[in-house]
Amino acid sequence: MRHGQAILKKSSKYTRFAIRDIASLCLAAVVFGIAACSNAGKDDELGNEIVQRSDLADPNVDGLRIEALRQAVLSNGFVAATELAPPADQARSAVGRLIFESKLMSLNGDISCRDCHLDEFGSADGLPNAVGVGGEGAGLDRLRSGGQILPRNVLPLWGRGGPGFNVFFWDGKVESRGEVVISQYGEQAPSQDPFIVAIHLPSVELDEMVADSAEVYETYVQEDVSGASAIQQELAQRFARDEAIGPLLAAAFSTDAANVSFANVADALGSFIRDEFRIRPTSLEQFVLNEGVISRSALNGGILFYGRGRCAICHSGPYFSDFDFHAVAFPQMGFGRNGFGIDEGRFNVTHDPQDRFRFRTPPLYNVSKTAPYSHSGSVQTLEAAIISHFDPLRLIQLDNLDRTARVDLYRRLGHSAGETLPAELTDQEVHDLTEFLRMLDF
Ligand code: HEC
Ligand code: HEC
Repeated sequence: MRHGQAILKKSSKYTRFAIRDIASLCLAAVVFGIAACSNAGKDDELGNEIVQRSDLADPNVDGLRIEALRQAVLSNGFVAATELAPPADQARSAVGRLIFESKLMSLNGDISCRDCHLDEFGSADGLPNAVGVGGEGAGLDRLRSGGQILPRNVLPLWGRGGPGFNVFFWDGKVESRGEVVISQYGEQAPSQDPFIVAIHLPSVELDEMVADSAEVYETYVQEDVSGASAIQQELAQRFARDEAIGPLLAAAFSTDAANVSFANVADALGSFIRDEFRIRPTSLEQFVLNEGVISRSALNGGILFYGRGRCAICHSGPYFSDFDFHAVAFPQMGFGRNGFGIDEGRFNVTHDPQDRFRFRTPPLYNVSKTAPYSHSGSVQTLEAAIISHFDPLRLIQLDNLDRTARVDLYRRLGHSAGETLPAELTDQEVHDLTEFLRMLDF
C-alpha cells in the first residue's frame, strides 16, 4: 500500500473478476468444511439454549469462584456501559442515521453504509468477505449478486468511537498515538479524532463505495489526498441539496445548506454510530456490578477466560481488546488483502516483518451476533473461532490446500507460535467459554 494515496488502487488483477471470487469464496468454505455459503449469520444451535434454573451457579457452593470471577472481570478493565456511552447530540445523530442509510454516500449512488452494516447481522453483514459496489440485497443474495468482493470481513460497529476506542480496522490503518492521528491521510488528517478519520475512508475506497471505472480512475485517483477531497466535496453538496437531509444537516451544525461540508457529514455519521451502536448494559455487567446471576457453564467459561484459557491477555480492557496486534492462525478465506489468498495484516500498514499476519484483537461485545469470525470471515461459529487460537489445523483440510495456501499456512503458524495463545481446551471448555462470551450480548 502506498501511503498518502487517498483512493487506494488495487492491481486490476484483483478487481475485475467478481464471479470467480464468489466461486472461490464458496469453494474455500467447502475446503474448510464450514457453512459460510449456506445460512451465514444465523445463531448456532447452542446459542439458543435457554439456561435452566438448575444450571445457575449456586452462591453457597460456588461462592468463592463467583467472587474470584467478579474480581477478575473488574481488574481486567471492565467498566459499566454508561461509562462507554457519553450522551450524543440528538440532532446530529438523527441526520447521521439518514446519511448512514443513504445511497447518496457512494459516488455512483449504488451503496450505503447500511448495505454492509446491518442490524440483522449485529451491524456486520453475515458474509465472510464484504460485497461492495455493484452488490444487491443482504446475506447470501448479496454474495451472489456479482458486486465487488472486498478482501476482509465486515467489522461490527459496537462501541466504535467510545472513550478509549482509538484503533480502527483489522490492521489498525487508522489510530491515534498521543495527539497524532495516523492514517493514509498522512499529515492531512481531516480530524484529530481517529474515529472521524476512520469514517472518512469507506466513501473513498475503490470497490467498497466507489466503482473502479476508467472515468473515476482518471478523475479522482491521485497520488495525494486531493482526489478523496474532491469526491467528498461532491458528496457533501449532494446531501446539502437533498430535500430530506439538507435542511436537517444544516440545522444540526447551525449553518446554511451552501456551507455544509463533508466534515459535517462525517461528524453526523459519527454521532449516529456512537449513539446507535453504544455499549449497553449486559448480563455480565448485571453479574459483576449488581450481584446478578450466572449459569454454571458461563462461570466455568469466565474462570477459563481470565485463567488457563489466557483470553484476557489480549481480550482485556473496557472493550475486551488490548487494541494491539497479534497473529492467530485462523483459516484464511477469499482472495486476501495481499492477493493470492494471502493477508499480511498489520504488516501492510507498518512494513515491519514482525507484524506479518497480525490483526487487531477484536472487541467482544455482541460477538455471538457477528458471525462469521476473523479478518477473512473464515469460521462460522464461536466455538470454531476459539479453537482457531490453539488448534487451527482441526479446522483446515490440508489435502485441499494448494501449494501457495500451504506455504502461507506454515508462515502464519510460525508467527502465531510467538504469541501467548490459550493452552489446549476441551470441547466442553470451549462451550463454557462461548456461554461466558454470550454474557457480553445486549
Ligand atoms: C462494502 C461494504 C461496506 C460498506 C458499504 C461500508 N463498510 Fe464499514 N466496513 C466494511 C469492512 C469490510 C470493514 C473492515 C475493513 C478492514 O478492517 O479492513 C469495515 C469497517 C468499518 C469501520 C471500522 C470498525 C472498527 O472496528 O475499526 C467503521 C467505523 C465503518 N466500517 C464505518 C462505515 C461507514 C460510516 C460506512 C459508510 C460511509 C461504511 N462503513 C460502509 C464494509 C463496509
Ligand atoms: C495472543 C492474543 C489473543 C489471545 C490470548 C486470545 N485471542 Fe481471541 N483473537 C485475537 C486476535 C488477534 C483475533 C483476530 C485474529 C484474526 O482475525 O486473524 C482474535 C479473534 C477472536 C474471536 C473472533 C472475534 C471476531 O469478531 O472475529 C473470538 C470469539 C476470540 N478471539 C475469543 C478468544 C477467547 C475466548 C480466547 C481465550 C480462549 C482468546 N480469544 C484468546 C487475539 C487473542
